Amino acid sequence: MRIDVLTIFPQMFDVPFSFGIFKRAVDQNLVSINVHNIRDYTHDKHHTVDDSPYGGGPGMVFKPEPVFEAVAAVKAQVTTEPEVAEPLVILLTPQGRLFNQRIATELSGYRHLIMLCGHYEGIDERVVEHLVTDEISIGDYVLTGGELPALVVIDTVIRLLPGVLGSEDSAQEDSHMNGMLEYPQYTRPSVFRDWPVPEALLSGNHAQIARWRRQQVIQRTLERRPDLIDMSKLGQEEKQMVEQFNSLYKAKSSLNKEPEK
Ligand code: ADE
Repeated sequence: MRIDVLTIFPQMFDVPFSFGIFKRAVDQNLVSINVHNIRDYTHDKHHTVDDSPYGGGPGMVFKPEPVFEAVAAVKAQVTTEPEVAEPLVILLTPQGRLFNQRIATELSGYRHLIMLCGHYEGIDERVVEHLVTDEISIGDYVLTGGELPALVVIDTVIRLLPGVLGSEDSAQEDSHMNGMLEYPQYTRPSVFRDWPVPEALLSGNHAQIARWRRQQVIQRTLERRPDLIDMSKLGQEEKQMVEQFNSLYKAKSSLNKEPEK
């Protein structure tokens, strides 16, 4: 996969891409990440990328010309074979579709992503209408720019690419990968302070371990993110577990209720 990032702060990407899984993925040519300074595509003495909004109002707006030029320059660098899909041009913006693991999986199927980091009060709408093909938000809050969101998206996507993580399984078992939260993990020692590792994990019995983990996935998701439970996607055993936990919670909450006067 090739990822091009268009930003006015290219240095913000120096450190994250130099460590750990990012670096290994780049070193192994599983992904190439190219960061471009949008200011390099301006033609005035001051390298101006922003201007005041038509109609007045606070803040500044990203000018369209340098952004169009930067995207054109990136596209010109890649050989366009007719059978290869056009790159996605993703604008990071709080107005975009809300990023999640499903969207990360979708993006991981593309050969080429261009990520455009917005700033200021926004970006000239003609960029959004005529250049951008996808808009992504990483949450319902406003950051000072699209650089951190771009890093979040790139990190999430890269670790899904084949060969990037140690074993293919490690992404499969992630929280959210199957729509639910992951089971808890333990390592040695088997007793730390007074706290033992759950017995099922020490049993050596694979069926018992797998069942304990499925139970934990259901219990955690019900307790922390019940909105993620989609009964239609669960097997018979999982459905039963949900029902069991639900009746347990009901019994508990009725025990905690104030007695009626
Ligand atoms: N730019 C500013 N805030 C953002 C957000 N929440 N998601 C994506 N891009 C942004």
